[in-house]
Amino acid sequence: MASAHKTSYPEDGPREAGRLIPDLWEPVQQRIVDYQLFHFGFWGAALYQPGVKRHIRPMAILKIARMGHPVLLAKAELISDPKASEIQQLIEDMVETMVDANGAGLAAPQVHVPLRLVVFQAPAERADEGIGEEEKYDHTAPLTILINPEITPVSDDIVEGWEGCLSVPGLRGLVPRHSHIHYRGTTPDGEKFEREARGFHARVVQHECDHLDGILYPHRMRDLSSLIFESEIRHLVEDVET
Ligand code: NI
Repeated sequence: MASAHKTSYPEDGPREAGRLIPDLWEPVQQRIVDYQLFHFGFWGAALYQPGVKRHIRPMAILKIARMGHPVLLAKAELISDPKASEIQQLIEDMVETMVDANGAGLAAPQVHVPLRLVVFQAPAERADEGIGEEEKYDHTAPLTILINPEITPVSDDIVEGWEGCLSVPGLRGLVPRHSHIHYRGTTPDGEKFEREARGFHARVVQHECDHLDGILYPHRMRDLSSLIFESEIRHLVEDVET
């Protein structure tokens, strides 16, 4: 499947969410298990993943800035050394924070760090319905750490879709985005990589990278009558999907 595409990622393998970057993902999984061991005992943790080590490490869930905090409006700075230990620690903490908050993505300014770094994932469950296996390649992405990203639209096609944001809690909005993009950036190992993205994958990358330029999704909306509380989305979602 991967060979049909020019886009690749170091340590390439099947695009299964959370599995392509074992160095980053496995410590996070270990911490989840450690947390479960601590709070729920062995059998609670065994439900998640049997046969694990029993040491306890501190969790590092970062505080998320909310709309109105100036850090969300600032232009973030380029990262000169992706391999620096502070950056590696920040990445690990951001992944933990994103998983803890059940978010699809997180940008460094959202945790009060004005640097050009985003983490995200686009699991198969979020991909558009009715797309073929080959198409899914561009529609999905595993847990990805993207440093100093650059986005180029591949087509002029713009689609609207519902978005939420951990910095705008409780709300949802209908946001226009490019349906097909190309993006590139640097991995935590300092290697360049690039991908094409469509659908939800393209949307989440555009949303997260907007955070690096001080843009929140409501700034992109054409019609604020579609800015709603998420508990009310059932009134509208039927109209959106047809
Ligand atoms: Ni956001």
